[in-house]
Amino acid sequence: MITDPFDTGPTGAFRTLCRNYPDDTVYKGADGFRSLWGPIFYRGRANGSARLLVIGQDPAQTEAFTRRILSGQAGRRVQGFVEKLGFSKSYLMINAFVYGIYNQDMALPHLNDPGIQSYRHQWLEAAFAPGKIEAVVTFGTPAFEAWRAFKATPAGQGVTAFHHRALHPTADKPNGPITRKDLLDNWNVALQAVHPNIQHPDATQPLVLYGNDFNAAELPPIPSLDFPMGLQPWMRTTDFWATLATPPGTERANISVKVP
Ligand code: URA
Repeated sequence: MITDPFDTGPTGAFRTLCRNYPDDTVYKGADGFRSLWGPIFYRGRANGSARLLVIGQDPAQTEAFTRRILSGQAGRRVQGFVEKLGFSKSYLMINAFVYGIYNQDMALPHLNDPGIQSYRHQWLEAAFAPGKIEAVVTFGTPAFEAWRAFKATPAGQGVTAFHHRALHPTADKPNGPITRKDLLDNWNVALQAVHPNIQHPDATQPLVLYGNDFNAAELPPIPSLDFPMGLQPWMRTTDFWATLATPPGTERANISVKVP
């Protein structure tokens, strides 16, 4: 028998948001969005118990399959980051965009389109309403700009949680300009800024910084508790099992899945 825990789904305001979401007249395929795969809303605790809020950019092909954000390579990296802060479960991760992007130049200018922004602000309001979130980490520029727009709203002005802006988990490229070491130096600064601002981690532990590269422990599996029922262990312990098929097709609609 498999007895892994699974995500039983969003509750309260989060559930309402998952029932009423912008469609492809807001997230248009012609604007660079992969609207055909549908929205992918969150990962973690969409039930009011989160202490840490993570904001990423947009879901990619792995997430289109798992239906939870940050569950591919970027997600494994972020999982290691939140675990260094002592979080094994009390986090909520959302993206700046609820649909994936196939053309960043086309899509990113729509970050604060009214329909995109107002829906994201509802998620942020739902996240802060229980009054439990102690820190926010934005990963990448769109996440930071999304946070900045929210902080300018009346609801955002009332939020006192500590915020830190970090590089996006896949900002590093083999030939620069941002190297793996640059990314991890940036994340070490982030960890040292956020760690003292967490009052209620899942586990109190000394902060261990990154070295020059991720080690295996720093790329942990995505917890089964974060995934819908029935997803298989290989989906959370390996990377790159979902790739864009060749040719990728309209709106990069063709995703190829290979069981490792
Ligand atoms: N997957 C996500 O869900 N968000 C990111 O920012 C990157 C990959």
